Amino acid sequence: MDYKEKIDPAKLPQHIAIIMDGNGRWAQNRGQVRVFGHQNGVESVRQTATAAAELGIKYLTLYAFSTENWKRPKIEVDALMNLLVSSLSSELGTLMDNNIRLRAIGDVSHLDQECYSQLQETIGLTSGNTRMELILALNYSGKWDIATAARKIAEDAVTGKINTDDISQELFGTYLDTKDFPDPELLIRTSGEYRISNFLIWQMAYSELYFTPVLWPDFRKADLYEAIYDFQQRERRFGMISEQIKPADDK
Ligand code: IPE
Ligand code: IPE
Ligand code: MG
Repeated sequence: MDYKEKIDPAKLPQHIAIIMDGNGRWAQNRGQVRVFGHQNGVESVRQTATAAAELGIKYLTLYAFSTENWKRPKIEVDALMNLLVSSLSSELGTLMDNNIRLRAIGDVSHLDQECYSQLQETIGLTSGNTRMELILALNYSGKWDIATAARKIAEDAVTGKINTDDISQELFGTYLDTKDFPDPELLIRTSGEYRISNFLIWQMAYSELYFTPVLWPDFRKADLYEAIYDFQQRERRFGMISEQIKPADDK
């Protein structure tokens, strides 16, 4: 079925976040080393980012490396970092052609020097692009984000910059690494795993969750369209009852 034609352009999520999972299994299914799966995942990133930009999605966040992923064998971590550097430079053309601005969340200053500088360079070169923001979560975890925000808030309270009475959900959000972006309405995880793996735990308080068995290197534009179509069939009640959120002409 062609889901693209069924998507209602008036009901697009502004922000989609994706846990790109299943690269290792995809490679192992082919008798290849895990890194082969990561390499093939780059095409899925390209397809997903261009499809999202073409549709009019404003923010796309991709979980590329979690704080927990440092625990993988060094050879895999090194390969992931090298792939990041080479993809950032090879995909600059894709970002420019599609008017996509690159951003990053996570403790990126602790990436190795080459990664960090390549990332900053690509972020700088794309900073004038306006169609969509592609946010890479790198050395990111939700608990890290929340704990870091709490520490900064405490520092500002100690120095008198803020009052403890001012600490609200809204203020807290401005201390998170995602302060420049709205919360994702839709969270997609590939590879058939049903967990959040310490991703945007604060920000996805009301996200719609979509799980697909497709392994990330097989994820294509059509899979994104299907996820968005599925999202559009849901009723987002935010604690209310159905009658309260139906448009007046439906009542
Ligand atoms: C996701 O694929 C990529 C990263 C976490 C960097 P995996 O490498 O986790 O693949 P599986 O889950 O082992 O198949
Ligand atoms: C989550 O995938 C992290 C990224 C996609 C970058 P993992 O494969 O690391 O998650 P777990 O270990 O299965 O929870
Ligand atoms: Mg995995």
